[in-house]
Amino acid sequence: MLAIRLVSGPERLDTLVLPIRPGGPAEGPDAPAALLPTAPPPDDLLAEAAALLPPARLTGRPGELWTQLRPGGTPQRLVLLGIGAGDEHGWRTAGAALARAVKDETYVTVLLPARSDAALRGLAEGLLLGSYRFRLTEAGGAPALSEVDVVVDDPDRLAPTLAAARTTAEMTRLARDLTNTPSSVKNPSWFAEQVASAVTGRPDLHLRVREPEELAAEGFGGILAVGCGSASGPRLVELEWRPADARTHVVLVGKGITFDTGGISIKPVPAMKLMRKDMAGAAAVLAATLGAAALRLPVRITTLAPLAENMVSGSAFRPGDIVRHYGGLTSETTNSDAEGRLVLADAMAYAVQELQPDLLVDLATLTGANAVALGKRHGALYSENDQLAADLLAAIDAAGEAAWRMPLAADYVEYLGSDLADLHSSPAQGAGSVTAALFLREFTGDLRDRWVHVDMSAPSWAEEDDAELTRGATGWGVRGLLRWLATLA
Ligand code: BES
Ligand code: ZN
Ligand code: ZN
Repeated sequence: MLAIRLVSGPERLDTLVLPIRPGGPAEGPDAPAALLPTAPPPDDLLAEAAALLPPARLTGRPGELWTQLRPGGTPQRLVLLGIGAGDEHGWRTAGAALARAVKDETYVTVLLPARSDAALRGLAEGLLLGSYRFRLTEAGGAPALSEVDVVVDDPDRLAPTLAAARTTAEMTRLARDLTNTPSSVKNPSWFAEQVASAVTGRPDLHLRVREPEELAAEGFGGILAVGCGSASGPRLVELEWRPADARTHVVLVGKGITFDTGGISIKPVPAMKLMRKDMAGAAAVLAATLGAAALRLPVRITTLAPLAENMVSGSAFRPGDIVRHYGGLTSETTNSDAEGRLVLADAMAYAVQELQPDLLVDLATLTGANAVALGKRHGALYSENDQLAADLLAAIDAAGEAAWRMPLAADYVEYLGSDLADLHSSPAQGAGSVTAALFLREFTGDLRDRWVHVDMSAPSWAEEDDAELTRGATGWGVRGLLRWLATLA
């Protein structure tokens, strides 16, 4: 990961970056961009940069970029970087565009305006996320860019802001790595081992991984049913961060299907193509917990990741099987592709009965219907608690992610009825993302109005590079969760 240094003046002038914003409204919609007041650049660079704005037809929109070569000069390259409104989002987009544009330089220097907490946070996250790439080989060579110097008025005061941005980006990158990893590598035991190695040397984090025999002994019927078709048995990861000064206990649950074939109700080829990402919820909640611990947020977090591979085989569970979940509720499954809710139900019931948290939040790549309803960037958020929903939505938005609240519609509840079991897990009617949420609600017990579910199938993946998102896994949820957890502190 590239290094970002806070400095009080430019030290290595090779490539210098000056921020630009759109011209003021008084100057008309086509007004050229304007330079932002920053620490003064050396010599006459300010005048030179200002003279470039009109002929280069720069608008100052976020991520816009102009590179001026200055042969024999110091600096050799002058980069004008659009930051839009200059808020954290604009800077994040700008940082990502910059990381891509200067990937062949070894180091660059960026000038920031005074009092630039939000600018620094956005810039740093954009640089660290936009420069992310997932490669299993080194073919093609790594980008040269290794250091970015950021010139600010008060490096010491801004150090914690940079640290928070770095941890957030590091953990988002971890979630992306886990989600991008091919399923031939990341079976449930491998995934659990990754968590174990992340926790090594951290005595303040407690990890328990349940093996199939323990899951059977304790009655985790949903996880076992989904996992029994695979040669790689299921696991339940339980990771706890418990600081002495915590007042609130949050349980996070994440869907961890390391590959989803659909099972006996097998998916067609196009729908199965990307199903290695079906553990993105688990990756996000685990990475957010590691991040909360690294930032020493004073909130107690217990994170549950039910991990299983949903395979087609002679030992797979079948449509029509009845599953007995943790705590005793039963469900009838007529579509083995609705496996996510079965593993989540066990973990949620366990959380409610054994951990008695104050708040319960689950993240899952639960339904294709998420994208049908909300497009490719918004998660679908469900809660009966208006305040909790609003708080989480605000944190997600502030962090640069997106979610939209959806209703737990009462008129679909009847579709969860089954003649054979307490519940039907894959109703044929109703809006898919909503009925999935309604199924999960049955396992929230006393926490029914202190629970949030986010269906994040759509935003967990990006088909193309897009601002701070890099093609592939997005690490969606890590940023929003960390922001929200910080507000509980
Ligand atoms: N993992 C899928 C959901 C999914 C689809 C995630 C597309 C990401 C992209 C989930 O297990 C699933 O197959 N859900 C079914 C539910 C149905 C059988 C009730 C779906 O969405 O079709
Ligand atoms: Zn499925
Ligand atoms: Zn799935």
